[in-house]
Amino acid sequence: MRRPLIAGNWKMNLNRADAVALAKGLADADTSVDCDILVCPSNVYLDAVSNAISGSGISIGAQDVYFEASGAFTGETSTSMIADVGCTYVILGHSERRHVIGECDMLINKKVVSALAAGLTPVLCVGETLEDREAGNTQKVVESQFDGSLAGLTEDQIRKTVIAYEPVWAIGTGKTASPEQAQEVHADLRKLLADRYNSETSETVRILYGGSVKPANAADLMSQADIDGALVGGASLKADSFAAIINAAGVAAA
Ligand code: 13P
Repeated sequence: MRRPLIAGNWKMNLNRADAVALAKGLADADTSVDCDILVCPSNVYLDAVSNAISGSGISIGAQDVYFEASGAFTGETSTSMIADVGCTYVILGHSERRHVIGECDMLINKKVVSALAAGLTPVLCVGETLEDREAGNTQKVVESQFDGSLAGLTEDQIRKTVIAYEPVWAIGTGKTASPEQAQEVHADLRKLLADRYNSETSETVRILYGGSVKPANAADLMSQADIDGALVGGASLKADSFAAIINAAGVAAA
């Protein structure tokens, strides 16, 4: 049985006071469901948010990390630095990093390996653009991102990794993949896990859906057999809507 994970990706939003208030609001919210909860604020506020959620059972993660341990890498943040301020997770290969910042699978793979070596749980994102989908290339694109970004991972390492399927056309657009569209790609990802590793491993790894997840569509998405949680952007910026998504996932999983 895979325990649901509901993760909030706050992206480049909020100021210090609002980030702390949101974290405290979540810590106080009624989310007594059987589900893991993760928030990913800006690096600048990791420390403050980490303190605000202390003792709540909510986990904290970064939105990216660099793969080198230390040294002359101006502007970058290491795995030990984010761990030092309480992070246990890190989002890697988010579509905004792939498509806006220009990260490639080879770089993302180095980050995944480095995060695992530091004892962090990577949340590795994959997903096709609208152009890919319309050209019938969804499966091919997702498979190539999977193989490239997760290259060389042992069975033990892949079991410690979370995968997030985020169709680029559904991110921040209000267009959610239908539960059936999402389930189809999640099932493909689980087949890939079985093929590259084995069926037991494929049943262990959590695969999250992301892209315009809201309280109104969370339960339908989470009730799909291969959807094990959500990576939420916009709707994670308000404690009440994020808590409603968490509760919907808990109900769907029960
Ligand atoms: P939205 O929920 O705002 O579409 O963002 C999804 C996302 O990119 C989460 O990582």
